[in-house]
Amino acid sequence: MKLSDKFLWGAAISNVQAEGGYLENGKSLNVYDTLEVLPEIGTEPVASSTDVASDHYHRYKEDIELMREMGFKACRFSVVWSRTHPSDDGKMNEKGMAFYESVVDTMLEAGIEPVVSLVHFDMPDLLFRKYNGFFDRQVIDIYANHVRDIANRLKGKVKYYITYNEINLCTWGHLVAGAERPSGMSESEFHERMVHHTQLAHARAVLEIKKADPNALVGGMIAETPVYPLTSAPEDIFAADFCDKMKNLLFTDIMTNGDYPPFYKSFLKNQGVNSELPTEDKEIMTEAADKLDYLAISYYQSAVAKAPENQENMTTAELEYKLMFNSDSVSNPHLKANEWGWQIDPMGLRYCLKQMYDRYRKPLFIVENGIGTDDALVCGKVYDDVRIDYHKKHIEAIKKSVFDDNVKLMGYLAWSPFDFLSSHKEVRKRYGFVYVNRTKDDLLDLARIRKKSFYWYKRVIETGAEVLQNDVEY
Ligand code: BG6
Repeated sequence: MKLSDKFLWGAAISNVQAEGGYLENGKSLNVYDTLEVLPEIGTEPVASSTDVASDHYHRYKEDIELMREMGFKACRFSVVWSRTHPSDDGKMNEKGMAFYESVVDTMLEAGIEPVVSLVHFDMPDLLFRKYNGFFDRQVIDIYANHVRDIANRLKGKVKYYITYNEINLCTWGHLVAGAERPSGMSESEFHERMVHHTQLAHARAVLEIKKADPNALVGGMIAETPVYPLTSAPEDIFAADFCDKMKNLLFTDIMTNGDYPPFYKSFLKNQGVNSELPTEDKEIMTEAADKLDYLAISYYQSAVAKAPENQENMTTAELEYKLMFNSDSVSNPHLKANEWGWQIDPMGLRYCLKQMYDRYRKPLFIVENGIGTDDALVCGKVYDDVRIDYHKKHIEAIKKSVFDDNVKLMGYLAWSPFDFLSSHKEVRKRYGFVYVNRTKDDLLDLARIRKKSFYWYKRVIETGAEVLQNDVEY
C-alpha cells in the first residue's frame, strides 16, 4: 500500500552540526561550538572543531539541489540562534537572518516545504555563561524575542515550526537548555526548574508564532525513547512505566495539557520539591496547549528498565530517585546495536506512535530517524546497506502504524540528508544519504557523493513507500 501524496517525506538537519561558517557575518559562538565533548561510552575521543563542519553555510544550494533530486517534500532545519541573535540585546543580525531567508526561498523553489526548528543545541554561549541558560527566566524572554523576529520574517513562507528540539533532554548537560545544575541544588529541584522554564519557553514560542502567522502549524518535540521492562517481574514493569512516563510522556503531557500531570506532582512531592506552577505561567501554557497543532518525535532506539536489587527496602522517594538519576544502564537482550551501542528497534517506533496517538489524538510527525555508521568511500562509492536496512524496517513499521493502527502521521524526516557532525562532534558517525568527503582532521574537498541509500530513498519517495526492497542499481 502507498502512503498518501500529502505525506511529508524528507530529512532533517541540525544546522550547528552542519553549517560551519563559524563566526561569519556576525554569528557568535554557541553552546555546541564551545562544548567540551565527552566521547560516547566505549568510543575514543574523536571530536572535530565546528568551524567548517560540512560547510553547509556555503554549500546549502548544492545540498538542497540534492534533496530536490531525491524528491523531498519537506526538510527540517534549525535557524541558529547565535547567528540571528548573537547577543542578549534583542537585536537581530540581518546578515544572519538573510541566510535563513535564502535557505527558505531555495527550498520553496525546489518544491520542498521548510520545517523550521527554533532551538537546536544553538543557544548563544553568552547566555549560558551570563545567565545559566533557561535556568534563568530572563532567557525565556530573550528566546521569545528570537522566535518573534523569525516568525515575523518567515511568515507566509514557512508553514511548519518546531519550537524546541528534544525538549525532554533539557537537563542533559548544557547543550539542550544552556544550563548546568548549580552546586548545592538537588537533582530533583533542578529537574523541576528546567522542565518548568523550557516548557514555558516552548509555550511562549507557540503563542509568538501563532500571533505572527495564524496559518502556521506549530509542533512540540521530544526525543522519544520508549522504555520497556527488562522482564515480566511486576517490579520491572513498575520501574519501566515510571521511567517511560518521566522521560517521555511527561513532556508531551505538559505540552498538550498546560500543567504537570499527577505522576510528576507525586514525584516532586515525594522528593520534597514544590509542584505548583505559578498561575500566570499555567495560563500561558494552557493557551499554548490549546493552540498546539502536532507532536513531533525523533526516534533512534528504545531502552529497558529494571527494578534496583534492593528495591523492597527503599522508600518510594528513594526508588524514584534511583530510577531517575542513578540507574544502571541495561541492554535489551532481544535487540542488536550499532557501533555506538544504540539498539535498533523498528517495532519500538510503531509502539510509541500508537501510544502517543491513543493518548493525545493529535497528528504526529517523525522529524528524525536514522542510524550512525562509519561509512567507507571506496572508488567513489558508498555501499551503505546497513542504512537502507534500518530505514526500510522503520518505514515498514510506520506503514503498519498508519494502515493498521490508524495513526495520523504527517510525515517522515530521516536523519539526515547529508553527513555532518554528530552531537558529540564526531565525523565518523555518519547518517546522511549523501557522503561528505572529509575526515576528522582533514577537510579534503568536502565533495558531496551520493551513497547507495540516496537512490533507494528516492525510489521510496517516488512510490509512496510501496517499493522498499534494497535492489536499486548503484
Ligand atoms: C538527536 C539530535 O538527538 O540525535 C541531533 O536532535 C543528533 O542533533 C541526532 O545529531 C543523532 O545523535 P548523534 O549523537 O549520533 O549525533
